[in-house]
Amino acid sequence: MHGYGHFDDTAREYVILRPDTPLPWLNYLGQDEFFGLCTNTGGGYTFWRDAKLRRLTRYRYNNVPMDLGGRYLYINHNGSIWNPGWKPVQTTLDRYECRHGLGYTRITGAKGGIEVELLFFVPPGENVEIWKTTVRNTTGKPQRLTLFSFVEFCLYEALNDMTNYQRTYSIGEVEVDGSGIYHKTEYRERRDHYTLFGCTRPIDGYDTARDAFVGVHNGLHEPQVVRAGQARNSRAFGWNPIGSHQINLHLAPGASETFAFLLAYIEQGEPKFDQPYVINKTKGRQLLAKYSTPVAVDTAFEALGKVWSNLLGAYQAECPNEHANRMVNIWNQYQCLVTFNLSRTASLFETGIGRGMGFRDSNQDILGFVHMLPERARQRILDLAATQLADGTCFHQYQPLTKKGNAEIGGDFYDDHLWLILSTCAYIKETGDRAILDAPVGYADKPGSRESLLHHLETSIAYTLNHRGPHGLPLIGHADWNDCLNLNCFSKEPNESFQCAGDVDGSVAESVMIAGLFLYAAREMEQLFAWLARPDAAQRMHGHHQEMLHAVETEAWDGQWYLRAFDAESRPVGSAKCDEGKIFIESQGWCVLGGAGRDNGRALQALQSVHEHLFTPNGIILQQPAYSAYHLELGEITSYPPGVKENAGIFCHNNAWIHLALCQTGQGERALEYYLSICPSAKERQIETYRSEPYVYAQMIAGRDASCFGEAKNSWLTGTAAWTFVSVSQGLLGVQPDYEGLLIDPCIPKDWTEYKVTRRFRGVEYKITINNPDGVNRGVKCMTVDGKTVDGNRIPLFETGPVEVEVELGKALVRLPA
Ligand code: BGC
Repeated sequence: MHGYGHFDDTAREYVILRPDTPLPWLNYLGQDEFFGLCTNTGGGYTFWRDAKLRRLTRYRYNNVPMDLGGRYLYINHNGSIWNPGWKPVQTTLDRYECRHGLGYTRITGAKGGIEVELLFFVPPGENVEIWKTTVRNTTGKPQRLTLFSFVEFCLYEALNDMTNYQRTYSIGEVEVDGSGIYHKTEYRERRDHYTLFGCTRPIDGYDTARDAFVGVHNGLHEPQVVRAGQARNSRAFGWNPIGSHQINLHLAPGASETFAFLLAYIEQGEPKFDQPYVINKTKGRQLLAKYSTPVAVDTAFEALGKVWSNLLGAYQAECPNEHANRMVNIWNQYQCLVTFNLSRTASLFETGIGRGMGFRDSNQDILGFVHMLPERARQRILDLAATQLADGTCFHQYQPLTKKGNAEIGGDFYDDHLWLILSTCAYIKETGDRAILDAPVGYADKPGSRESLLHHLETSIAYTLNHRGPHGLPLIGHADWNDCLNLNCFSKEPNESFQCAGDVDGSVAESVMIAGLFLYAAREMEQLFAWLARPDAAQRMHGHHQEMLHAVETEAWDGQWYLRAFDAESRPVGSAKCDEGKIFIESQGWCVLGGAGRDNGRALQALQSVHEHLFTPNGIILQQPAYSAYHLELGEITSYPPGVKENAGIFCHNNAWIHLALCQTGQGERALEYYLSICPSAKERQIETYRSEPYVYAQMIAGRDASCFGEAKNSWLTGTAAWTFVSVSQGLLGVQPDYEGLLIDPCIPKDWTEYKVTRRFRGVEYKITINNPDGVNRGVKCMTVDGKTVDGNRIPLFETGPVEVEVELGKALVRLPA
């Protein structure tokens, strides 16, 4: 408990006890195709599949106050007006509690003896958000009160909805049918879907026009209808359609009533209309009937809990560190699935209209969820591969609804294609499904083409090999993983995007980070081919690895660490010779992970330099010293004030690469220390500085050059989720999926004497106990599987389980990967 709330690990919830959190603290509803953003005050919005093209309710980003607009219930109790989630009225409550759980949020507010509990969730497989509502009279007297529900409909295409008022103010249409409010804008013409906002209980009035309900000059904290205590039964005609139900309750002492509101997306099909312009409501009515009893709602909620238990059951740990346990077992895996669903589209920092599914982002996200949802990982990999171009480059993002790549935020990021190798290999290691390599996937610019996925991977390797600069290192294009290191941009024009500007053709700017990533990818391909019993191809990949390694070791070592890049004039970036930006994190992480510096001590030296120059108690800074001035030849990275984002912020995503590198070099104490330095759960105790949700990773924590050192920003949709899960589950705890079984190779602090991991792998449960009697960091001494000693550190594949595995670490064998 730190003043705002606490974890409830048994319930797998974060409990918030004050609504005025340092920032709105977000959760997500929905796990399949229907999603809601839900803050601790009920703020946020709902959409089906695509937050840009199918947005069902409105949200005004960057509103004042922050986080206004959402799923609201207003209470008028003898003239006292309040919301159980505090907002928008912000009346002080006698009691407030918000429990963010896995796919649901439960908000309880009480005032004047009336307690209202709202449980928001989306049942598995359904396109409906349920608001289970319970109203209790906790007094000894009968109480009368009036409830008003409220949502503001979005006219589906979110960008149009927030920009094109000359049209949108004239197209809004609704119908009301019993307690069902049907939002049907554009249904008469090209849309075949509508939004239903219904109530499972009879209602005493409704409103569908915002002006009537709120008032033209009122705010959401003072709606006219709520103040008057009486709905107007308004029908929206253009302007701003909303949904609001009035419910009058008369509760005996101690009595309660439970019912639900449903917010649903319905695709109709034929017949579209019951009568001319009157929509066919059969499906809407059926849905309301389906959830008309509290039992039906509770059963759906239980089903949701089972879905999550099953998903998280793929990896559960009991280790000596409570933060690691909590993150691994609950929140980190949960966040990984949210990034799978939403990539970088919709959060409180991503507006749902900007970025779609990022190519590099989504490939990395797969690493964090493939163990939970392998079939969906398969589909995602094929969707991503289909946005690769025949020359090997990729659309940097695609729209989830259409799955078509778009070039709006730029292209020619010369790292993109390599991430496809990482996700594909992770998927095959997890599943053993080699058939995916033969799956036909076209190239985005070759309509009708159906090359195999393996062809795409080869194309990716070839692209990097064919696009190398004067030092034999990969060219960078518009940028590599670091979107803001724009070495070919030279932008003097404030109205252009750093990522799109500049000409990459003919440029010689090179990236050491891509070189490291290539080393890693080539080794992955080598192992894959070896497993496929294609030794020639494996050998070919080995040759590529060696050749790039040679370039890295001869051209990219700066003396104490690996350089970051060579700019367009072949000057080093990230060198002790530079005035600022002398050392960068990304190339240390990737070169070490790719196998550089193994035999010559440079891996350890590079990591030591990270420790000396970049590590802080709030995580590892991206580069130091921060750039104090704008550099034309470096681009956006130098546009940020010192200490934030890529200009010397703590970019949590890349921290995990160092955690993994520390594990690979046997540095268990440091790996845990670094892991905890960005771990949200461990940040609870400094929440006034940290400000963001203490249960999910943020993209960035302000670095020490910033006045707000330690402040986290851009939570939820970040590759940090996937990479920290990889680093803790495979690096520290050391349970690594591999083609022929699970490899066990932990790297832990010496004082960890014992821990357990339960891992579901290819449908079989492995119960793994790891003992560390000699107090080592790394090295499996011996291992028994179901009582039998096995050679080496691989658990063979079993058809059925559970399989009991006992591992003893010890000084005997310390294995570094080849
Ligand atoms: C992007 C990533 C990028 C990172 C670093 C994030 O905002 O989603 O694709 O690698 O920034 O620039």
